[in-house]
Amino acid sequence: AVVIHRKMKKSGKWVKAMEIVKEFEESCRTPISKLKQVADAMTVEMHAGLASEGGSKLKMLITYVDSLPTGNEKGLFYALDLGGTNFRVLRVLLGGKDGGILKQQFKEVSIPPNKMTGSSAELFDYIAAELAKFVAQEEDDFKPTSGRPRELGFTFSFPVMQTSIASGTLLRWTKGFSIDETVGQDVVAELTKALERQGLEMRVSALVNDTVGTLAGGKYANNDVVVSVILGTGSNAAYVERAQAIPKWHGLLPKSGEMVINMEWGNFRSSHLPLTEYDQALDAESLNPGEQIYEKVISGMYLGEIFRRVLCRMAEEAFFGDVVPPKLKEPFILGTPVMSAMHHDTSPDLKVVANNLKDILEISNTSLKMRKVIVQLCDIVATRGARLSAAGLLGILKKMGRDTIKEGEKQKTVIAMDGGLYEHYEEYRNSLENCLKELLGEEVCKTIKIEHSNDGSGIGAALLSASHSQYLEDES
Ligand code: GLC
Repeated sequence: AVVIHRKMKKSGKWVKAMEIVKEFEESCRTPISKLKQVADAMTVEMHAGLASEGGSKLKMLITYVDSLPTGNEKGLFYALDLGGTNFRVLRVLLGGKDGGILKQQFKEVSIPPNKMTGSSAELFDYIAAELAKFVAQEEDDFKPTSGRPRELGFTFSFPVMQTSIASGTLLRWTKGFSIDETVGQDVVAELTKALERQGLEMRVSALVNDTVGTLAGGKYANNDVVVSVILGTGSNAAYVERAQAIPKWHGLLPKSGEMVINMEWGNFRSSHLPLTEYDQALDAESLNPGEQIYEKVISGMYLGEIFRRVLCRMAEEAFFGDVVPPKLKEPFILGTPVMSAMHHDTSPDLKVVANNLKDILEISNTSLKMRKVIVQLCDIVATRGARLSAAGLLGILKKMGRDTIKEGEKQKTVIAMDGGLYEHYEEYRNSLENCLKELLGEEVCKTIKIEHSNDGSGIGAALLSASHSQYLEDES
């Protein structure tokens, strides 16, 4: 009798856990009809954000980039790419017309977490010091030929209200960064001061968002690139807009008639987004409650954390035994790379899942059946994120009039994509691409291509620094 009683108790817990998964799955559903509503809402918000400053949650920031690289850029340029858990410094030697990129070198440095929430000077001093070290390692054939100061493209991947191509104030931090005193400051001035403190003479000639850098780098590689999307720690998109379609722009009409817009789509929100109680709790407990809602359901910083929250809820119903495993209660302990590894586990006994549960959460003795449910959970979280980002992309294509084929036109649309999530999470990437196909239909899809722009944002910043050089050597 005791045995039967235990079994029943156990199966009761199982039923409860399955109820939680089912309910979660239900509230994460993204049928095509819903995705189309999300896409339409994105298009509407784009219009509103372009109409007036503060007209929408979508900032639709003017970047002062009115022309993308032509291929004529020439000379030695540096780039500094700050925006995630790592930052990169690089130097490239551009060969001008037909020369392409003659040489490039880079270094990646991780940012100590305490620097992301400390003081402004500390963060910028740390970056400047790393850049100074990198500059000191210049090889002989990789040195400036003239006596003029080195120039730098600064990729700063946060919302910035630009005042020119090489200046702009930080609107707010996103992702894991939170340093109050930097908000409202000109980030180029902050960096320049830090460079001076290092005794490094360098000029920032372009300040760009990573999406804008990726757009520039993508365009350099493929002339049909008109949109860029980052799916990494955070998520965002940029695209080429007609200057005349930007009512809030009161400056001169650029010669090109175009202006690159940094959408800051991470801050998009809509009643059509399928949000769950877990998303709400994650948001409320985040560094930026109420902000970046779209980012919090689609990007790499958060997917693992959503997954952990659901798992934790199941554990409260004794999924892992009578106590909730203490490690499982730690926010952000399950990173998206771990979730991805579990999701992609193809071993028959789901060994990768078992090992990760043991190593990271100190949970052992899971049954295969339990591990299968865990994989299913990864799938629900990743699929919702991927399909919602496809919907966002459709919203942009609609705004650009590239979601249909116009008669007689052979227009090609290339989207430059980058970011760790897109690059490393295969199921996510596949789900996004399949969903976009589903949304656009076979025919239109043939005119649209997603291209992985590997680290295009750094190169793109260097290219834009070249085309905005204060000592023009550009052949164009
Ligand atoms: C966050 C930032 C945005 C950036 C994106 C991808 O959303 O606010 O500026 O482009 O992350 O790094």
